Amino acid sequence: MIDSYNRKIDYMRISVTNRCNFRCTYCMPETKKVEDTLSFDEIYEVALAACECGITKFKITGGEPLVRDGIVDFIRRLHNIDTVKDITMTTNGFYLYKYAKSLADAGLSSVNISLDSLKKERFIKITGVDALSDVIKGINEAKRVGLSTKINTVLQRGVNEDELFDIIGLAKDKKINVRFIEMMPIGHGRESVGVANFEILEKIKKKYIVREDNERYGNGPAKYIKLEGFAGSIGFIGAIHNKFCEGCNRIRFTSNGKLKPCLCYASNIDLKDIIKDTTIGFDKRIHLLRERISECIDSKPKAHAFEDLSKVSEIKDMVEIGG
Ligand code: GTP
Ligand code: 5AD
Ligand code: SF4
Repeated sequence: MIDSYNRKIDYMRISVTNRCNFRCTYCMPETKKVEDTLSFDEIYEVALAACECGITKFKITGGEPLVRDGIVDFIRRLHNIDTVKDITMTTNGFYLYKYAKSLADAGLSSVNISLDSLKKERFIKITGVDALSDVIKGINEAKRVGLSTKINTVLQRGVNEDELFDIIGLAKDKKINVRFIEMMPIGHGRESVGVANFEILEKIKKKYIVREDNERYGNGPAKYIKLEGFAGSIGFIGAIHNKFCEGCNRIRFTSNGKLKPCLCYASNIDLKDIIKDTTIGFDKRIHLLRERISECIDSKPKAHAFEDLSKVSEIKDMVEIGG
């Protein structure tokens, strides 16, 4: 579908759970009550209706999607929908070692793994879990089984900014792309101080010969560069300093059954009344879901408004939205 600003919307992010086994300081530092999560059958119906509205790419997120039983079968079901072109996942990497092979076999093409530190003690400080070696194992396994593999790093002032070059090093010998995400003022992100991407780029340019990289890796807003001698590319998601909304291609479906036209705004369209209504048949439900999805696409704003904190202050949870 084309939205009111002439953008083609063909990508849906599905948060399958708001649970996470990590407690990242800027995301979910305290344990949260587990929401009534939709069943995979229910989410699948929404995905089917979305496909009929022109969605061809799905990003599976959480919380942490791999804490949810049945995730591999769900991906296989999505993969079996004729019109689906790409299914990818964003994960903290903890269970990736265990699941990478079955995820790839089920039809997943790519994983993004969050990694903010390569120092054991600091990793624990940021995530609350002693899991750096598991995550590294997961990254290597994802690569080994042929999943396209990217690292997501949020650099924070005075926390991990000194690790810039060590983290970039992950892209040196293997074709692993390392991306820097600017901290967004959502939930606990509001209490943290991120490092701007232009600052990161300046530092990189002082040390390496940098080329533009116009290849597309994935379906997201990242812009990439190549460093001489590196197998992987370095990407930037400049959510704050380099708004990418004019190329936006996505809507979101949250773990508690809501469609969101934009990450930044609290507005949403609840689908639970349709999904949970057992008195209506499958065809009618798909029809109603399509209407709501179209409404959501029509209501997409032109751009986010992170510069106006009053607009985002109502959004409490990145974990429900799935980033
Ligand atoms: P691929 O490049 O296809 O892998 O997708 P992606 O980069 O969109 O996926 P990922 O889940 O790794 O998201 C990386 C970061 O970009 C997360 O912090 C997201 O919150 C952020 N992000 C993704 N989509 C949007 C968006 O529409 N708006 C904003 N502001 N941030 C986004
Ligand atoms: N700002 C930017 N990125 C965030 N993430 C979680 N919360 C925020 C925030 N407030 C990132 C995680 C993960 C990705 C899905 O979203 O680090 O890599
Ligand atoms: Fe979990 Fe990802 Fe949030 Fe960390 S950033 S708490 S890994 S959902």
